[in-house]
Amino acid sequence: MGDPFANDASYVTVPLGHQRLAPEESLARSRAFLDTMRRRRSVRAFSTEPVPFALIEAAVAAAGTAPSGANQQPWTFVAVGDPDLKARMRAAAEGEERDFYTDHITPEWRAALAPLGTDPVKTHLTDAPWVVVVFAHAFGLERLPDGGERQFKHYYVAESVGIAVGLFLASLTHAGLVALTHTPSPMAFLGALLDRPRNERAYVVIPVGYPAPDATVPAHALEKKSLEQILIQATSR
Ligand SMILES: Cc1cc2nc3c(=O)[nH]c(=O)nc-3n(C[C@H](O)[C@H](O)[C@H](O)COP(=O)(O)O)c2cc1C
Repeated sequence: MGDPFANDASYVTVPLGHQRLAPEESLARSRAFLDTMRRRRSVRAFSTEPVPFALIEAAVAAAGTAPSGANQQPWTFVAVGDPDLKARMRAAAEGEERDFYTDHITPEWRAALAPLGTDPVKTHLTDAPWVVVVFAHAFGLERLPDGGERQFKHYYVAESVGIAVGLFLASLTHAGLVALTHTPSPMAFLGALLDRPRNERAYVVIPVGYPAPDATVPAHALEKKSLEQILIQATSR
């Protein structure tokens, strides 16, 4: 019997290469980032102005640096700029949303959405120059040389994809772009429409671009919890 805690041959290390900042610079950078992120808003009215694909690439690359369960990186970002495909996505999403708003929404959910003014009309899916659909890999799927497939477990998929999406949104915000985290309910139609493999599940739809000149945001969304409400400094009793 080997030692179950002995390092595996696959465990290889390299130097970290961490860049230590002076405390003042640390704080200045942290506050500058906070200032940028405080300006982030979910935008639902987009300009049709184009956005260079390089900005989408850089934001997805930032998302790809995210930590993930067992480093499995269980995500795919599908960037849709093709007007015809965006129109098909919008038609399908609006169909689902109409059903949701008429048949499936609970009174409690309707009340929670009321201050946001959302409805089944999803102009952002055709106006935004890019619609990025994020897929979560529910399990691993590897093509074998003999043409078969190997299926394997993924760990902490939802948490991992959520963190990657957070970095994606932060990168877009930092680059002066706006976005919406949109979750048509249900989202299964996106896998078929975008031809994704059977282990991928649509996680969120993110239109990206510049705001329409007359864009407004719901005042309700500006009400963020205070630091006192969300941060507790724990001490031993
Ligand atoms: C997981 C998730 C799903 C969301 N789904 C939708 C959606 O389907 N439609 C929509 O208009 N906004 C959606 N939102 C945006 C929220 O309404 C928005 O983040 C919230 O009102 C706060 O506004 P802010 O993003 O401007 O701070 C979603 C946000 C998250 C995080």
